Amino acid sequence: MSIPTLHIILFASLASLASLLVSTGRADQSREEVALFIFGDSINDAGTNNYINTTADFRANFPPYGKTFFHNPTGRFSDGRLIADFITEFAKLPLIPPYLQMKDGEFMAGTNFASGGAGALVTLTKDLYVVDFKMQLKQLKQLRKKLRKKEGKDQANRIIKEGVYLISIGSNDYLMPLVYNPALFQSISMEDYVGMVIGNITTVLKGMYKVGGRKFAMMGIGPLGCVPGMRLLTRNGSCSGAANKLTRLHGFKYSYFDFYASGSEKIRHPSKYGFKEVENACCGSGPYRASPTSGGKRGVKEYSLCRHPEKFLFFDTYHPSERANKQSAQLMWNGSLSVIRPRNLEALFKYEHV
Ligand SMILES: *[C@@H]1O[C@H](CO)[C@@H](O)[C@H](O)[C@H]1NC(C)=O
Ligand SMILES: *[C@@H]1O[C@H](CO)[C@@H](O)[C@H](O)[C@H]1NC(C)=O
Ligand SMILES: *[C@@H]1O[C@H](CO)[C@@H](O)[C@H](O)[C@H]1NC(C)=O
Ligand SMILES: *[C@@H]1O[C@H](CO)[C@@H](O)[C@H](O)[C@H]1NC(C)=O
Repeated sequence: MSIPTLHIILFASLASLASLLVSTGRADQSREEVALFIFGDSINDAGTNNYINTTADFRANFPPYGKTFFHNPTGRFSDGRLIADFITEFAKLPLIPPYLQMKDGEFMAGTNFASGGAGALVTLTKDLYVVDFKMQLKQLKQLRKKLRKKEGKDQANRIIKEGVYLISIGSNDYLMPLVYNPALFQSISMEDYVGMVIGNITTVLKGMYKVGGRKFAMMGIGPLGCVPGMRLLTRNGSCSGAANKLTRLHGFKYSYFDFYASGSEKIRHPSKYGFKEVENACCGSGPYRASPTSGGKRGVKEYSLCRHPEKFLFFDTYHPSERANKQSAQLMWNGSLSVIRPRNLEALFKYEHV
């Protein structure tokens, strides 16, 4: 099988300047618009690799790429628009240009840092002349600097904080070793390797958070073993078990309980939840019974204890009563998506991790 063919199928990159320039020519953007910052690999690359010294393997700036929608190659690894382009449209934003294409001061509704072939492991991509994930973070920092200069610090910080960070990364970290260096997994277990990939992704996500990003949309990894290039590797047309295993190891299932929303709701509407008191603790001393003297073992012997803890939201200075805990547990166990996302614990217990 030819490696360039695989690259063409799998890796991203870009195309014609002209169509992008046309599409980003909007000048009347409202300052309150929420920006979109796009990161990652060829799934999201809208032309970054047109601006760097990479090889045709990591470019898509030639026909038939782009034939369906742009009618020109743009560098996108598809016949037409990418997922990120449709998200942009749904968010009513103008088409987002690659960061490397933007002239200084040109920032409109966001920017796209994604580069075909990029992975989370720098060691993997260092000889490939693509913009790896860590470098994309550096570019985000550069952008913030430019924005501060152009818009002022407060406005720049607002754009960074309110913006949505759309990220697709990791596929290349798994595909490349399987294609070029399958023996790798004789010296490192798949579990440890995935741990390294996740560790490096985490480092960059923390970096984005530090820059000021707060709204992250993380794309997982598709069924890599079943892309045509991997089917080719198995030689009999079935999906690559190794690739699918790496993909599954990369995933994890979680539940997030919106403790803040549910607690605030009880404070706003105590009687709805059977509480009479949501300000004072049941047990403690002084104003609000807020001194942590409950039990008399923390240096102060005297303390007050209410008669009906079930009427109190707070049992002591810092902690909820049993009634409140039971309500929280019920919400976590089988509450709706409004408080426990993306699945409740009943579903999480049932989930089989392969
Ligand atoms: C681009 O990369 C090639 C090697 O792949 C190198 O020979 C060439 O000098 C590079 N060009 C620039 C402008 O860096
Ligand atoms: C990032 O990847 C490198 C290998 O490229 C590895 O040595 C390092 O431990 C990883 N970092 C984290 C935080 O996992
Ligand atoms: C195809 O080949 C793989 C090994 O490359 C093997 O594990 C799998 O069982 C084969 N599938 C079929 C349907 O023959
Ligand atoms: C939710 O779970 C609790 C605890 O098991 C149970 O008492 C309650 O009936 C369940 N509610 C629904 C709607 O299933």
